[in-house]
Amino acid sequence: MLNVGITGLGFMGMIHYLAYEKLGGARVKAVCETDPVRLAGDWRSIKGNFGPQGKVMKLEGVSRYAVLDELLADPSIDLVDVCLPPAQHADAVIAALKAGKHVFCEKPISLFPNDAERMVRAARKAKRLLLIGHVLPFFPEYRFAYRAITGGKYGKLIGGHFKRMISDPLWMSHFYDPNVCGGPMIDLHIHDAHFIRLVCGMPNAVHTVGRMRGEVLDLFSTQFLFDEPGPIVTAACGALPQQGRPFTHAYEIYLEGATLLFDFATIGKEPRLAMPVTLLTSNGRVMLPKLGGSDPVDAFADELREVVRSVHSGVTSPLLDGELARDALILAHRQTQSAERGRVVKV
Ligand SMILES: NC(=O)c1ccc[n+]([C@@H]2O[C@H](COP(=O)([O-])OP(=O)(O)OC[C@H]3O[C@@H](n4cnc5c(N)ncnc54)[C@H](O)[C@@H]3O)[C@@H](O)[C@H]2O)c1
Repeated sequence: MLNVGITGLGFMGMIHYLAYEKLGGARVKAVCETDPVRLAGDWRSIKGNFGPQGKVMKLEGVSRYAVLDELLADPSIDLVDVCLPPAQHADAVIAALKAGKHVFCEKPISLFPNDAERMVRAARKAKRLLLIGHVLPFFPEYRFAYRAITGGKYGKLIGGHFKRMISDPLWMSHFYDPNVCGGPMIDLHIHDAHFIRLVCGMPNAVHTVGRMRGEVLDLFSTQFLFDEPGPIVTAACGALPQQGRPFTHAYEIYLEGATLLFDFATIGKEPRLAMPVTLLTSNGRVMLPKLGGSDPVDAFADELREVVRSVHSGVTSPLLDGELARDALILAHRQTQSAERGRVVKV
């Protein structure tokens, strides 16, 4: 049994806690949170954009700490699950690794590439796993795409287009602050940057056009440039002033022998599947694969199963690899630089 200590009992801390309850092989043994009400188990103030409403929890048998160092000194904890705001990821992760714990940390790995590099180096030095919670490949639609691309059945990837848009998150006062959240690029597009890095490898260069809001881009489009004959890959992302569509993500993926289509949005408060995952094959067939449930907490449970497998085997999951998450963050920063300089930027 893997004993987990979660630090940060906000939206993601709660979702992870609920997801661990669905797993065998791991249990939450300790939590760390600065808000005494949440630490006591009253999670009714927690807000997010999916999953259940927070409620009053019993937290029986769970040790509670207000300071991370106390959790790190708890010898029963094998894995520290970091659900803190991103500006705190680097210090918390490095301290946990130095304390001899394995670490699973929410995305983005950090706000800045130099911190991400320090985290990767700290994991190597401590000989502990650093896994980063890029959950997208665990969502059924993206898992299907990942398997179609990497499975080989439909030939090589020749191109793709990825889209991720939200309405302005009015409740997040620091969303556009590069030192707190990082705006749409670091908070949102990082999911697609990571997926692109995962299935295409590291691009040589990026060309981004976009609109700045203060120090971050709020609407942008990127061409990812690979060695010839690499795939033709673009992605668009932004936060828009219309509140009617709080979220949408979509892809078109082109393989030698198939095209994959997908487009989902929340319109008002209603889920709207504009294009269910659809597979078009070269012999003219149109297939709608059965993908299973649509509860997002299940995707997090699958992600945590992968974390548990990784820790038990001692082998870093390729989907959650800290170095891949660092690369995604590097890509995101190069994209911003490209838009600011108005030219292609080498990666
Ligand atoms: N994978 C996803 O789909 C997804 C979705 C939302 C958020 N996230 C990521 O999860 C992370 C957390 O985001 P969130 O939305 O849960 O934030 P949040 O603000 O809801 O929660 C953060 C919690 O950490 C606590 N905290 C702050 N400093 C602390 C400290 N020093 N010690 C202990 N507790 C402390 C806060 O009191 C709060 O309860 C971010 O990196 C974010 O990008 C990922």
